Amino acid sequence: EMTEPYTSRECDVLVVGAGGAGMRAAIAAAEAGCSTVVVTKSLLGKAHTVMAEGGIAAGLANVSSEDGWETHFADTMLGGQLMNNWRMAEIHAREVIDRVYELERWGGIFDRTGDGLIMQRAFGAHSWRRLCHVGDRTGLELIRTCQDKLVHTAGTDVYMECTLTRLLTGENGVTGAVGYDINTGQFVVIRAKAVVLATGGWGRMYRYTSNSWDCTGDGAAMAYEAGAELLDMEFVQFHPTGMVWPPGARGILVTEGVRGEGGVLRNSLGERFMKDYDPAKMELSSRDVVARSIYKEVEAGRGSPHGGAFLDIASVRSPAEIRSKLPSMCDQFESFAGVDITREPMEVGPTVHYTMGGIRVEAETCASTLPGLYAAGEVAGGLHGSNRLGGNSLGDILVFGRRAGVSAAEFAKTVARRGDISEAVIAAERELMLRPLSGEPDTGPAENPYQIHRALQEAMQDDAGIGRSDASLRRSLAAIGGLRERTPRMRVSGGRVLNPGWQTCRDVDFMLTVSEAIVRCALERRESRGAQWRFDFPEKDEELGRVNFVARRDRGEMLVERRPLERMPDNALRRLPKSRFFDVKNLPRDYAYRLAATVRMEAH
Ligand code: FUM
Repeated sequence: EMTEPYTSRECDVLVVGAGGAGMRAAIAAAEAGCSTVVVTKSLLGKAHTVMAEGGIAAGLANVSSEDGWETHFADTMLGGQLMNNWRMAEIHAREVIDRVYELERWGGIFDRTGDGLIMQRAFGAHSWRRLCHVGDRTGLELIRTCQDKLVHTAGTDVYMECTLTRLLTGENGVTGAVGYDINTGQFVVIRAKAVVLATGGWGRMYRYTSNSWDCTGDGAAMAYEAGAELLDMEFVQFHPTGMVWPPGARGILVTEGVRGEGGVLRNSLGERFMKDYDPAKMELSSRDVVARSIYKEVEAGRGSPHGGAFLDIASVRSPAEIRSKLPSMCDQFESFAGVDITREPMEVGPTVHYTMGGIRVEAETCASTLPGLYAAGEVAGGLHGSNRLGGNSLGDILVFGRRAGVSAAEFAKTVARRGDISEAVIAAERELMLRPLSGEPDTGPAENPYQIHRALQEAMQDDAGIGRSDASLRRSLAAIGGLRERTPRMRVSGGRVLNPGWQTCRDVDFMLTVSEAIVRCALERRESRGAQWRFDFPEKDEELGRVNFVARRDRGEMLVERRPLERMPDNALRRLPKSRFFDVKNLPRDYAYRLAATVRMEAH
């Protein structure tokens, strides 16, 4: 086995992942003149981006003339409770406008206003109607449009159904990656001058998630193993509305667009309970607040029959409007639950949806701390702070996908010769991959990877879920450690060809690494802020509001460190009051003083 040849490829820029961020990066890198290979675990056009429903937030001001990028910036920062990298938030709010028009030029279809402009809908914690959309299938349209552009861009090559499992590094940084072809089980080595990770997020270590099967955190885990830093891992977003019934559908996304179109939430007493939690924004409060509110209603015994809340659009909109604006929701409830949402309420509850944390990158270039390694989209951290606003992900992937592609291409051009790859590292990865097929373990009983995955889901859902405490997080960390010890004994039947059991073994490794980072960071953040809800520390802590947590590997151990937040300069700070939801009482004291001082200066 050890001498088995592997398929070998070379390129300037390797893009891992073919969702919106990966495709946009590849288009940019190829347009800059670099030979670019995109690798996807799935088929082109089927990445998790297709599951994005409600729209792309951009301050076009087509429907609300008061809107603009500055207000979008302010809403994003306030939604993230100022834990965001402010430079990323500014770049995003400014550039997403160009990216939306670019998508339109590339052939993307949008719903339209009466005078033919791109239609925009309301969404949680956005000051104005800001989400550009096509019904509730915006992600699908984005993917189709980028895919069409990608396959017509010279210099790009797509390698489908290939899973990369380890980054290769040399003296001068990243040199490529190794993995396997799902169809043949053959090992694959791709040598590159620069690598863009666009592998998306990780929800599959939780029991109830809106994420598809492929969201196992490969990119974050590979980057961590190679020495990059992971930022803000404690912030895991629970989308307030996933399906809760029937059991097989539990977790599937119910778009915030339902509330954006006027849908209301009620408890079992028929009360619009959001009035007790956020009377100003009601159902369009930020996701962390709405998700916790539903959780609290259920805990108080006012939940729906299957442990959620009722979401009602039928009494607010006509059946024709509902069918035109929310076609997927109609189909989904009809086929999975036998519910006609044009007549009856939906039952919904929190579901793991998005990971604000990710690879720590530089705002302008998307460069990680490892030379030649870039990250964009959900796998990168920083833009969203402690809570992402809905609609800010489709913008993120276009804005930073493009920037990562441009930067990776620039870097690749400075590399005279592709770096050497280590045959020893490739052999070690091959050995790790082949172990589950190598016969009975001699150190103990064989382990089933699916059972380890299931046990991890229990540990994360129950003890590192929407609310956490020191005790629960310690239980979860102990469980992760125990599962990790069992992984060397994972064994599967069958061979390497199209064998999901075998593939799951490596996915389990990735999920354990990422879960450990989530739990270790959540333990350190002894406060409640955004998506981090600590039962034992229910308030914000002013000092912790000034730091991000970073997880990195040090001599085989995971270390969590505090990093001071880069403070917003005065000109950025002054934009915050543009948000309709700005309240000076929510600003940290030093920001409030500085803001007051700059406003006074301007008045003179
Ligand atoms: O609810 C939704 O349609 C999800 C949008 C998002 O996460 O950005």
